[in-house]
Amino acid sequence: MGLVLGIESSCDETAAALVTTDRCILAQRIASQDAEHAPYGGVVPEIAARAHAERLAPIIEGVLADAGKTLADCDAIAATAGPGLIGGVMVGLVSAKALAMASDTPLIAINHLEGHALSPRLVDPELGFPYLLLLVSGGHCQILRVEGVGRYRRLATTIDDALGEAFDKTAKILGLGFPGGPAVERLALQGDPQAVPLPRPLVGSGEPHFSFAGLKSAVLRAQQSGEHQPADIAASFQQAALDCVLDRLRIACAAGEALPALVVAGGVAANRSIRTALERFADARAMRFVAPPPALCTDNAAMIAWAGCERLGQSDPLDIAARPRWPL
Ligand code: KG4
Ligand code: ZN
Repeated sequence: MGLVLGIESSCDETAAALVTTDRCILAQRIASQDAEHAPYGGVVPEIAARAHAERLAPIIEGVLADAGKTLADCDAIAATAGPGLIGGVMVGLVSAKALAMASDTPLIAINHLEGHALSPRLVDPELGFPYLLLLVSGGHCQILRVEGVGRYRRLATTIDDALGEAFDKTAKILGLGFPGGPAVERLALQGDPQAVPLPRPLVGSGEPHFSFAGLKSAVLRAQQSGEHQPADIAASFQQAALDCVLDRLRIACAAGEALPALVVAGGVAANRSIRTALERFADARAMRFVAPPPALCTDNAAMIAWAGCERLGQSDPLDIAARPRWPL
């Protein structure tokens, strides 16, 4: 059995975790920076980088202590090397390099998106390749065919905003604060999803790509009209976004050969309405449905450690660069 220390610092969560190759999360700690960024209504890269630099070392010490392990027990140190806010990524990656060098342990540089993409396999031992992946986070909105570790075929992406970004902007328009996704989901529970007529951008188009900029603008107009309750706008937005996602998945499924499983990952996968609708979608097509528990959907280090477990045996040079952009 192998043991991997994972480090995540690409956005506004500072996190470390210890995960075994037999899928046991021995320890994990996450420090959220919501309070620091909330006054600005979004993540401020400079503040994020400084917060990561202050918090990461005690968090790593903490998970090792929680699990009663030392670096000498680890078979690899896996750190997010991109994509993300470069200051934060550098803090995590440089820390991992220093630990790897000091303890003579292999370094594995992980693509954050691969962390999300493989995270369902951490919680579901039965999930084999290939599978259809809906990756929906604050920065990304993609449909991928996951054929193996390191083998990802992108079937669709967004031509403007990511789905999580659309949730965050809707929250901002409705004055719900930051972070926006969970707040929109909560408010939507009290609203009527049919109350506000909103567009479904690209629905019906032959390519399975996404677009949410027009939906966001329509949310802004609905709010400014003063004719609608915020809860109705939130519920109608969520419904419109969901209709887009289901239509795009339908097109992606129709385009290729049938895949045995539908998997959702990324921060937006924490949304209950979206999870339920996707489960129904998968059931209707006799596909297995796998969604990690919400705490493993939003950014965390267990998924980075797990990606390291999937890649155990490989190692990256200590001069490997942090990458602000890094497509899967
Ligand atoms: O994966 P993640 O933690 O960070 C990125 O890699 O981007 O995703 C964060 C995104 C944010 O846009 C956040 O608003 C969204 O996921 N999100 C949600 C929910 N929880 C987080 N969106 C909708 N409903 C939720 N419950
Ligand atoms: Zn993420």
